[in-house]
Amino acid sequence: MLKQVQHDQKKKIMHYFENEHIGYKNNQLYVEEINVNELAKEFETPLYIYSKNHFINQYKEFENAFKNINHKIFYAMKANFNLSVISTFVKLGSGVDANSEGELYRALKTGVDPSKVILTSVGKTKNEIKLGLEKNVLMIKAESEEEIELINKIAGGMNKTARVAIRVNPDVDAKTHPYISTGLSSNKFGVDSKTALSIYKRRKDFPHIQFTGIDMHIGSQITSIDPFVEAVQKLSELYFEIEKDGLKLKHFDVGGGMGVSYNSEKIFSINEFAERTIPLFKNLDCEIIFEPGRFLTANGGILVTEVLYNKINGNKNFIVVDAAMNDLLRPSIYHAYHHIQPIQKFDDRNEIVADVVGPICESGDYLARDREISESKSGELLAVMSAGAYGMVMTSNYNARRRGAEILVDGNKYHVIRSRETFDHLIWDEKIV
Ligand code: LLP
Repeated sequence: MLKQVQHDQKKKIMHYFENEHIGYKNNQLYVEEINVNELAKEFETPLYIYSKNHFINQYKEFENAFKNINHKIFYAMKANFNLSVISTFVKLGSGVDANSEGELYRALKTGVDPSKVILTSVGKTKNEIKLGLEKNVLMIKAESEEEIELINKIAGGMNKTARVAIRVNPDVDAKTHPYISTGLSSNKFGVDSKTALSIYKRRKDFPHIQFTGIDMHIGSQITSIDPFVEAVQKLSELYFEIEKDGLKLKHFDVGGGMGVSYNSEKIFSINEFAERTIPLFKNLDCEIIFEPGRFLTANGGILVTEVLYNKINGNKNFIVVDAAMNDLLRPSIYHAYHHIQPIQKFDDRNEIVADVVGPICESGDYLARDREISESKSGELLAVMSAGAYGMVMTSNYNARRRGAEILVDGNKYHVIRSRETFDHLIWDEKIV
């Protein structure tokens, strides 16, 4: 028996994270019309389950908010790069923001038109640049003067003109976790405004480059609109200076970073975001690009895990589950909060404060710390919520653990969009010498 929360300390601690597509029916958790318990029995845990219609709704909400201005969404596939997930957005008309040759490979596998792909990354290799040019992507976002020189050289060698946007670091504090804040001058990303302007002005020095855009991305899980407004204002000033110099840009890329609610906290809506930013965009005579990742996917996914053991060490309760930091890294590296709730709700359960931990041999292997949660028994299932973004994509095989399956639910149907890894997957490219 784990230690219970004393009655006098008892706030109303259990709450359930639900949305239009993930929630309880008769005390059982469902993703759309599919019973999570049944899926977990069939496909084992840890198991990622996604709601296709949540993804679609989020996309449409974003699209709708900006329908009156010239804009385009490029799904930041780093948030969830399963082919079916990318393809869901591509079929809705989305472009794709790809951050490596591997992401470009995945994106193109979905059949997306390369003219709807942007190639990003602060450190592109020669091969990545070459591949981007070969495939004729819409544009390459360059992040340093040396990279621009290299793109110019490679494009020249290929007899091509590279379409390039410069990523500008607007030096704005996005007030998010330091690891996912990217728009401060002390971050590695982009170039400062002055440098950017001087490169645009020196465009004749890069005969194999056509500068088509200007870009920023100030961070991720941003929960206030203010930093976006500040950054867009700064970037707009630069846009006008470039225009004054005689260069007309086609794209103004705002990046991603729009936050979502992980614990029922209030975050700005995309309509509020649009209301504040559209007046700024209206001054610009070009296409506005957005690269949302998390906003489109985070709350459309759950990670299902089985309770293995309950125990007390010292003064602390521990719930040991079969998902670990290799399955969901965010709590370990960002102290990120993911709500954890039972697949089957019981009315008579005690409330406890516990760490929810995985089987990996590290103290940093946890999914929740000092969490108020209802007691659960060995063999029961828990859902780690908001796991649709930066979940599966950040998994590893640490401790030779096999990655679980991914299921995409669509109404009363589901599809296994990636199978659970086999032991052979773990060693497929190794040799004993
Ligand atoms: N565009 C660029 C250039 C990016 O670097 C990113 C994310 C995005 C768009 C999409 O940002 P979003 O809309 O998803 O916030 N692993 C971290 C998040 C890292 C985000 C990296 N860049 C996490 O689990 O919180």
